[in-house]
Amino acid sequence: MLSCLLPLSLPALAAAQTVLDLTQVPWTLTEPTHNISIVGKVPSQAHLDLLAAGVIEEPTYGQNEIKDRWVANANFTDPTQETHLVFDGIDTFADITFCRQWIGSVDNQFRSYTFDVSSTLKSCTGPPQLKLDFTSSTSKAATANETYQCPECLGTRFEFPGRQFIRKEQCDYGWDWGPGFAPTGIWQPARIVQLPSDGIYVQNTGVDVYRQGQLNNIPPDQKQPWVLNVTLDYLGSLPDNVAVSTDICDENGDTLFKGSLEDIKMVGNQLSGNVTIDQEPKLWWPVGHGAQQLYNMTLTVTSGSNAQLAIATTRIGFRTIVLNQTPVSEEQIAKGIAPGNNWHFEINGQDIYSKGSNVIPLDPFWPRVTKEDIRDLFQSAVAMNHNMLRVWAGGVYLPDFVYDLADEMGLLLWTEFQFSDALSPVEPKFVSNIAAEAGEQVRRLNSHPSTALWCGNNENGLLLLLLELFDQSLYPAGKENFEKVFNEILVHAVFENSRSLSYLPTSTSNGYKSFDRSRERPFEIRYQDDLYAPDLAPGAQFSDNDFYNYNTSQAFTQSTYPVGRFTNEFGFHSHASYQTYVKSLPASQLSFNSSDILARNRHYETSYADLVNNAQKFDPGNQTAKSLTGQAQMSSGAALYFPTPHKQPSSPSAALFSGPNAQFAAEIHATQLFQAAFVRAQIDFYRRGAGYPERNLGALFWMLGDTWAAPTWAALNVDGRWKPLAYAARAAFESVVAAPFVDDQHGIVTWSVSSDAWAEVAGTARLEWYTWSGARVETPHAWTREVRVGATNSSALQGWEVVETLRAALPGAVGILTLDVTLEGSGERFESQRAWTPHFLSHASQVDVMVDPELDVAYDAKASAEAGEGESVFTVTAKALAGHVWLEEPEVAGKGYWSDNSFWMLPGKTSVTWTSYGRGKVDVQDWAGEVKIGSVWDLTTP
Ligand SMILES: *[C@@H]1O[C@H](CO)[C@@H](O)[C@H](O)[C@H]1NC(C)=O
Ligand SMILES: *[C@@H]1O[C@H](CO)[C@@H](O)[C@H](O)[C@H]1NC(C)=O
Ligand SMILES: *[C@@H]1O[C@H](CO)[C@@H](O)[C@H](O)[C@H]1NC(C)=O
Ligand SMILES: *[C@@H]1O[C@H](CO)[C@@H](O)[C@H](O)[C@H]1NC(C)=O
Ligand SMILES: *[C@@H]1O[C@H](CO)[C@@H](O)[C@H](O)[C@H]1NC(C)=O
Repeated sequence: MLSCLLPLSLPALAAAQTVLDLTQVPWTLTEPTHNISIVGKVPSQAHLDLLAAGVIEEPTYGQNEIKDRWVANANFTDPTQETHLVFDGIDTFADITFCRQWIGSVDNQFRSYTFDVSSTLKSCTGPPQLKLDFTSSTSKAATANETYQCPECLGTRFEFPGRQFIRKEQCDYGWDWGPGFAPTGIWQPARIVQLPSDGIYVQNTGVDVYRQGQLNNIPPDQKQPWVLNVTLDYLGSLPDNVAVSTDICDENGDTLFKGSLEDIKMVGNQLSGNVTIDQEPKLWWPVGHGAQQLYNMTLTVTSGSNAQLAIATTRIGFRTIVLNQTPVSEEQIAKGIAPGNNWHFEINGQDIYSKGSNVIPLDPFWPRVTKEDIRDLFQSAVAMNHNMLRVWAGGVYLPDFVYDLADEMGLLLWTEFQFSDALSPVEPKFVSNIAAEAGEQVRRLNSHPSTALWCGNNENGLLLLLLELFDQSLYPAGKENFEKVFNEILVHAVFENSRSLSYLPTSTSNGYKSFDRSRERPFEIRYQDDLYAPDLAPGAQFSDNDFYNYNTSQAFTQSTYPVGRFTNEFGFHSHASYQTYVKSLPASQLSFNSSDILARNRHYETSYADLVNNAQKFDPGNQTAKSLTGQAQMSSGAALYFPTPHKQPSSPSAALFSGPNAQFAAEIHATQLFQAAFVRAQIDFYRRGAGYPERNLGALFWMLGDTWAAPTWAALNVDGRWKPLAYAARAAFESVVAAPFVDDQHGIVTWSVSSDAWAEVAGTARLEWYTWSGARVETPHAWTREVRVGATNSSALQGWEVVETLRAALPGAVGILTLDVTLEGSGERFESQRAWTPHFLSHASQVDVMVDPELDVAYDAKASAEAGEGESVFTVTAKALAGHVWLEEPEVAGKGYWSDNSFWMLPGKTSVTWTSYGRGKVDVQDWAGEVKIGSVWDLTTP
């Protein structure tokens, strides 16, 4: 129970519109079974209040997740007071009492709730008390199916059963990368609003920005003027004859547009109207393709007698974004594009290559995630050359401040309705709950230019595919359930509230056979059976895919990679970084397969039988055997492709891997190098696909950040520290890149250059060969070639070579390709280097001839003084060729990243810049001497 006693005499508030912020009043959290009565907070969750009160320890430390499991199953109470009571979010099941009267029950974490308590307040005796009685979600979820009786409601089960039957963050019940705390509480701000007799309180200002005539999912006519459709969700009542004036200005305060909304409609507590903008504003572009122009918009609501009833402000950007899934035209086929359907994003009418990754919750407890945390995460994403993030469906709808930051930083957010790897009931009450949730979320996120798409769910199409393949008895019901939720309820929630955004029924599918928005089910979805239709064009491509392969012996076998128009998920897991583990694990647990680490490896294979049997994937008492499989995948990947570490604890302290845990630190690094190499090889492959018949126009790897310190797929550790994968993504997502491709069927290697620039690039590529001591090898296999790549395309560097021939001719040598190209028009230059060895670095022909490069790193005070804000320059020197040079910042450096890391260098000097995100900044002088440096050579030596 969470309760608060409102200290205020509420009638005093009623004089004018008054808002009492419930995050500022004292709350008490009580729980009878454990005799708990402590100070509570809003927004918060019970775990966080118990932590602050010293009742439990940090939940993500050691195995506290399991030790303090009682919290997930407990029923808490929160006591507090209005007139309109407004909750932005309650997690999840609570009965709300005000002035000792029941005012309502809530059951959906993803909706806001408002209660008119005017009459309750009038009859209140004593100070008004607001009380929320929470029921543990785990007990609700466990019994919900007794009501629904839904046999086709299959879903992967992690730590608690029944997540698909409740509307709560799905990964609160565990996931294959994270813990399951099933938290409870008022997780979003709450307030009491008292209205004057003639005024309203605007809860949400939604602005849908589109080109006249635009409709969802169809590329609009870019020559049409812009239309703004404004929707205000409000509390209170309005007279019949209201007017809404609007004023739009840029960051300098210069007016773009002044006018009044037309066609004003009032339905329920929504006021809507539209206006056509006769000026051509500056467009908003994603990062890398132009500026992020934003405009402030002020809306003034007045009555017929001109009395001002409300003022609302919001920020908008002008852009069109469409997920183009239209059939491939004859003209496109003539250009070499495979028949079928398109599947790519178009921004302001231009095809864009989507580069990025997937986002999961940053913390198991959202109330402690700050704006700064998100800014740091996005700063990393931009530095990793991302232009898109996929907001994955097993978390929450992210708050507005997240979209504000994405608007400012130019990141497109592929946004999903929160349904993941499970089919939910279609019972009428459940369906109306999710329809209300969806409509509210679409209106809330409409005005953000960063909102790129509404997608129905994560991987439910794949779940349905499992049914289709393995269980014909459940398939018809499962398909009907899927169609109802994802091709009817949610699609209409989008189309009724937005014309600017495309809808995609599920993250991975075979696309659609036809689309007609006037149908009750607008998409005629292409199911698996449809792929066997006899009239399908050979080589036809319809959509996107996701791809995982844990057979590490195939990691670089190009023919195992999927060929499609877009790849929305792909990745591999690695250990968290050593410095990150240290903060979350006792010293005794710092080894590869310690019991705490095994308990944190939640990656087990799922079979169809597990799904039908509702089998628990994580068993707190018996995780070892299952976890060892995931652990072994990491070590086998490292061992197959990188030198195997065998460290002595006595390594000198300056070495990259030193101290009593040197062996573990080196093993961690090897798993991370493998993860980075595997993901990079795939990014290269998908990007090259831009110039292939599949016309691949997107690669979003799994996944950007972590939720705790554990073996996971993340590129960034939970504390923000970059893994090698983050640097590999930064390099692989450069606008123009060169990459080697080994065709495993013919044993040949070719190099190709990919570009996502919107103009042609031209220049040269030069391949040279070196020994590990750094000497250039004179060989006919060295060459210089001309490069020319069209807009958003790829092109092969002429010629190919037989890998076996290179292995014989150049044993133990390293090929380094230098790319130097210029963008037509702007003259912008792209330079990069890429190393490739005919044998993997684990092979004796490489390991046996590696030389100690005697790496050194030194702070360059003079260059740093001339560098930008937050930047510090370091000089790296090498005496021999060094592979995967790794600079490791000490913990005190705080969050930031190196301009390059895990790079190759020839003997000599190079400069590397550290960019600090600046929070709690420690002067670089204080830590510059603690930067460690090493390379792949350090794995080979004791
Ligand atoms: C919490 O409430 C539910 C529903 O009333 C009940 O089944 C469960 O036993 C309660 N849990 C505890 C720990 O009291
Ligand atoms: C839900 O109930 C149905 C019908 O009783 C049953 O067949 C199904 O296995 C249950 N599903 C889950 C996930 O509990
Ligand atoms: C919008 O208004 C805010 C607050 O007045 C101001 O800080 C910001 O610069 C403005 N932005 C734009 C794009 O006009
Ligand atoms: C504005 O809304 C009205 C009523 O919905 C509609 O008829 C009209 O076409 C809209 N105007 C524009 C420019 O879209
Ligand atoms: C404007 O949006 C509202 C809901 O958000 C919708 O009911 C209305 O039809 C829209 N108007 C137009 C012209 O699209």
